[in-house]
Amino acid sequence: MIRLAGTGDVDAVAHVERECFAGAAWSPGLVRAEIEGHRRTVLVDEQADSIVAYGSISVIDDVADLHRIAVLAGARRQGVARALLAELTRSARHEGASRMLLEVADDNQAAMTLYTSLGFVIISRRRRYYPDGADSLVMEAAMEPDRTEADGGA
Ligand SMILES: CC(C)(COP(=O)(O)OP(=O)(O)OC[C@H]1O[C@@H](n2cnc3c(N)ncnc32)[C@H](O)[C@@H]1OP(=O)(O)O)[C@@H](O)C(=O)NCCC(=O)NCCS
Repeated sequence: MIRLAGTGDVDAVAHVERECFAGAAWSPGLVRAEIEGHRRTVLVDEQADSIVAYGSISVIDDVADLHRIAVLAGARRQGVARALLAELTRSARHEGASRMLLEVADDNQAAMTLYTSLGFVIISRRRRYYPDGADSLVMEAAMEPDRTEADGGA
């Protein structure tokens, strides 16, 4: 079940961070700041009372930034990230965003394939950006505006 994260989810989300990003993981303090942050939307996927994945965005004006998307190893390749991104996109459109930006290491094959399959295209490359020498790619996808309110509700 995908739902909005709350302060009570900090430890579980920080666990996902550590499992998925190791040395680059956000601390529980950073996770809390993300969950409580202004213009942030943090969603978790809870399965059998346990959080297996989460994703977060911020929206400023018409641009949504994907900050994080992470799925525990045991829950991968089941469409969890795709479903989280669909919900984050829905939320971003509702907030007025018309495009989403993200940053990814060019050797992250799983993430690159996921983003490309969802229509993201590379708009910028920063060479040898990461400590291991990988390039950083900025990717962008256009999103149709949310017409829910204009249409008087879905
Ligand atoms: C990248 C990540 C979020 C994908 O999560 P996921 O739930 O396994 O992804 P999904 O099951 O929704 O996959 C959707 C599509 O993405 C692509 N994909 C996902 N994982 C892939 C892999 N390991 N290899 C190739 N393609 C992959 C496939 O096209 C897949 O569709 P398919 O299964 O029908 O072929 C997950 O591997 C992860 O958490 N990685 C560690 C953290 C990370 O790198 N986050 C992104 C930082 S930018």
